[in-house]
Amino acid sequence: MLHDIISIRDFEKKDIEEILFTAKKMEQYVDNGTTLAKGKILSMLFFEPSTRTMMSFQSAMERLGGSVIGFSDTSTTSVKKGETLIDTVSTMDQYSDVMVIRNPLEGSARLAAEVAEIPVINAGDGTNQHPTQTLLDLYTIKKEFGSIDGLKIAMVGDLKYGRTVHSLAYALSMYNVELVLVSPRELRMPEDITEHLKDTIPYIEIVALEDLPKVDLVYVTRIQKERFGDPNEYERTKNTYRIDKNSIKLLGNAKIMHPLPRVSEIAREVDTSPNAIYFKQARNGIPVRMALIATLLEVLP
Ligand code: NCD
Repeated sequence: MLHDIISIRDFEKKDIEEILFTAKKMEQYVDNGTTLAKGKILSMLFFEPSTRTMMSFQSAMERLGGSVIGFSDTSTTSVKKGETLIDTVSTMDQYSDVMVIRNPLEGSARLAAEVAEIPVINAGDGTNQHPTQTLLDLYTIKKEFGSIDGLKIAMVGDLKYGRTVHSLAYALSMYNVELVLVSPRELRMPEDITEHLKDTIPYIEIVALEDLPKVDLVYVTRIQKERFGDPNEYERTKNTYRIDKNSIKLLGNAKIMHPLPRVSEIAREVDTSPNAIYFKQARNGIPVRMALIATLLEVLP
C-alpha cells in the first residue's frame, strides 16, 4: 500500500479496491467506535475552508480511538508570522502520526509528503486533486449500485476548477464505465484529463442538461467561485445548472451525488426525492476515512 495519499493517479485499481474493502469492514465500528488507533494522533493542516472533509476525518480518527490536533484558521498559527509551508509541515511531523493537509496550491500535498516522515493525506490541493473524496464517492457508488462497472455516469458543473471531478474522472477510467461531461464551454474538463479519458473509456462532452442521455448517476458540482481569475466569468456561469422539482425530470431515475457544499445547483426540495443520495455520500466519508487512517497507521483489525 502507498505511504501517502496524494493523488488518485498514484493508485492502482487493486489499491482502490483494498481501501473500499477495508471501509466496508470499518462500518461495524462506526456506531460504537474501536481502539485500533489508541494513542495515535492525527494532525489537520487546513489552509482552506472545509466542513465535511475536516469533520469527517476528525470523526473517523475519534471513532478509531485516536486523537486529533490541528488548525483550520491559519490566522491563529505562525503562518501569520510568515512561516513557510515546509516549516509548518516539519513541525506537525514531530507532533503527530499521520497528517491531513488542504492547501490552495496545486502540488502542496506532494511537497508536504516529501518533507514529512509520517504519512500525508491530501484533503485537496487547489484545483488539482481530492483523492479521499474520490474514494468515498467510489464507495458510495459501489454501495448504491453493487458495482461500478457497467454504469453510465454524468459529471455536471464546474469541470475545469473542481478537484473532486478531476480525481473521480481518473479513478473511473480504471473501471468499465461511460462518462458524460456536462459543463459550460468555459468550464470544460481540462485537456490533460480528456486526453487520458480518450485512451481509456468512452466519454462525450455536452453543454445543456436538456441533452443529457439516459444515465445511472449524475455527479453534480458547485461552480468554484474562489478559483476564478475573472469574476465576470463566474457571474456568467454561476447559474448554468439547477436541479429542482421540474428539471429533475430530465434525469429519470438517475441517482444524484454531490461532494457538497452546494450553492444553487440543487434545490433543497430535491433532498427528499429518491434520486438524492448526497447526504448518504457525505456519511460514507466516515468508514472510508477510518479505512485510510487505519491502513496508513498500520493498525488494521
Ligand atoms: C469539495 C472540495 O473541497 O473540493 N468539498 C468537499 O471536500 N466535499 C467540493 C467543493 O468545494 O465544491
